[in-house]
Amino acid sequence: MNDPNGVIQWRGRYHLFYQHNPHGPIWGDIHWGHAVSEDLVHWQDLPVALTPTRGGPDEGGCWSGCAVDNGGVPTIFYTGIRGTYDLAQSQVTCMAVGSDDLVSWEKHPANPVLTPPKDLDLIGFRDPSVWRDRETWYQIVGSGVRDVGGVVLLYRSHDLLEWEYLGPLITGDKRDPSLWTGSIWECPQLLAFGDKHVLLFGVWEDGTHYTVAMTGRLSGHRFVPEHTRKLDAGDRHFYAAQTLTDETGRRLMWGWVQEDGNARHEAGWAGTMSLPRELSLAPDGTLRMRPPEELTSLRAAHTRRSGLILEGTHDLGARGVQLELSAHLVPNGSACGLGVLRSPNGAEETRIFYDPARHKLGVDRRRSSLDTGSGLSLDVQEGDFELQAGETLQLHVFLDHSVLEVFANDCFCVTSRVYPKGQDSTGVCAFGNGAELETVDIWTMGSIW
Ligand code: FRU
Repeated sequence: MNDPNGVIQWRGRYHLFYQHNPHGPIWGDIHWGHAVSEDLVHWQDLPVALTPTRGGPDEGGCWSGCAVDNGGVPTIFYTGIRGTYDLAQSQVTCMAVGSDDLVSWEKHPANPVLTPPKDLDLIGFRDPSVWRDRETWYQIVGSGVRDVGGVVLLYRSHDLLEWEYLGPLITGDKRDPSLWTGSIWECPQLLAFGDKHVLLFGVWEDGTHYTVAMTGRLSGHRFVPEHTRKLDAGDRHFYAAQTLTDETGRRLMWGWVQEDGNARHEAGWAGTMSLPRELSLAPDGTLRMRPPEELTSLRAAHTRRSGLILEGTHDLGARGVQLELSAHLVPNGSACGLGVLRSPNGAEETRIFYDPARHKLGVDRRRSSLDTGSGLSLDVQEGDFELQAGETLQLHVFLDHSVLEVFANDCFCVTSRVYPKGQDSTGVCAFGNGAELETVDIWTMGSIW
């Protein structure tokens, strides 16, 4: 699998579609897979929702898109690939209408409902996101202008079939590094929080990709960014974010957590979804992200330690590869944090660290695996993070075998993949040089299947 698609709460149930190659653990011949959940925690597989149609405007693949409620009719917008992969003009928006259980989908006879504007030299036109504001539908599409950079194009419609082009919502500028331009912006999402907006998109550059969150405001049909940052310091391990607003009014977000290395070939599958994240906007414009309350239902055996002054590495006694950890730390000037997937002799270990001197928080994978022959990136994934005076560091960590998701102080996330070699690399530790571990709660985590 790759991107989450069409996330929607329908008749109370959460539906999550995703980019899917039914033939094997590599990217290609993209269909839409489908899973459903009653409680946001346990998921059930459903049949493939969209398959490319030979001779149709999506014969080269059903790429990313969204789902909306059109007056009680479930409706998908997705990117059809007309035959060939690489020409901007081959990427078009298609529409499909669903049965009430969202299991069967009929492609609309008017497809494609939207084709790229001819007056821009685009290098892609994909990943429609559609929403309604009063009586008007809007659609944004991810794109890139040759030699300029990423761009998000804006459209509006009254019937979802005829779309009027309103111009670029925002255009990147390669001269302005704060715009994180890249060559193309994928999977745009525009989220309203009161009179503020957050624009999410994936920046695709050769050799790297990551998700950007811009906080700003709308001025007519233009988005004016005020603050730009990466959404997740794991870069490509949290990509192509997609959100829904659920019946309780929460904004929930998923991302694609892709593989590292070659484990996929032995496993026969590749790629996972992140845990859902609940989004909100702090009064100062900071995007907050936290795990939804429902995830506590997976908690099983519990241990707690408190009041430890950390000198070096301290074994916390717990072991496991499916764990939730919640720690409160008082740093003291040098790096401190938690270690997971630690072998008894410490040769393998993945560290979640905060370095107050460098103002960095991240995941140190340099010793995550002794398996050096399988193409793994054994690196440090980190981003800018600074505690305010007197603020405690809160690390909330979900470890699910090779998937590691870290939330720091509900505003900073790092998602990573780690593949230790040792069967006994299951230890949990804390480390520091005089830092205080006020408390750490550790739960073994149940299965979502
Ligand atoms: C992002 C992406 C999208 C595209 C899809 C194809 O990962 O490249 O832009 O629609 O994947 O699978």
